[in-house]
Amino acid sequence: MTTPQTPPVHEAAHRRDWPAYFDRMEGKPARDTLLKALALFGDIDPNNPPLAIDLGCGAGRDSVAMLSAGWNVWAQDGSDDGLNRTKSRPEIKSALNSNRIQIHHADFENLQIPKTKLLNASFSLPFCPPTHFKALWQQIDHAIEPGGRFSGQLFGDRDDWATIDDRSHFTRTETLALFDQYILESFTEEDRPSKHIGENHKHWHVFHIVARKKESK
Ligand SMILES: C[S@@+](CC[C@H](N)C(=O)[O-])C[C@H]1O[C@@H](n2cnc3c(N)ncnc32)[C@H](O)[C@@H]1O
Repeated sequence: MTTPQTPPVHEAAHRRDWPAYFDRMEGKPARDTLLKALALFGDIDPNNPPLAIDLGCGAGRDSVAMLSAGWNVWAQDGSDDGLNRTKSRPEIKSALNSNRIQIHHADFENLQIPKTKLLNASFSLPFCPPTHFKALWQQIDHAIEPGGRFSGQLFGDRDDWATIDDRSHFTRTETLALFDQYILESFTEEDRPSKHIGENHKHWHVFHIVARKKESK
């Protein structure tokens, strides 16, 4: 008898089954791209904490790291389940009590993003429908102040999900063009087959990005 393979976490993201995705991701630490961006900012003045944005915060793994690095946080997601999980984390409960975090239930299609020195979007922007991506990116770019940073992921055109109608994927050239007013501090292209076989196999094409917006001239 063969043991059934546990479905990989990407299978839940494929279906946009966010509760299943968060279950599988439970206990995971903050994303490396966010940690790199936080490290690049160095120490934060506790008397004047800047505001960080977490777009598509999911169950809050990155928001917690922003708070512990001394930032105030504006977190957003379209999933009730994700936001409930975020709010139930002890660090977030405490930050809600001290007004260090604002949590917004909103879709990417209807956002007003405040100005920020750090905008993080970990594995979330590819789920914005292509018809809305341009407007969302304009909002993101407008929100990031000169000298501020973007951290997160975009998905490439060779990713298996690039053929799904409601996903936003970009070539390397298109991705770099989005950052033409930024200095790329870390830009890694992952272009590889997953280790899964059969129906769970997926080709990954992901850009991992940390970028600093150029200062105004
Ligand atoms: C793959 S998860 C990533 C979550 C988290 N940032 C992380 O790194 O674990 C994608 C997130 O994007 C959110 N999302 C997807 N489509 C969305 C939309 N149109 N508007 C708002 N949030 C959306 C989902 O609810 C989910 O939390």
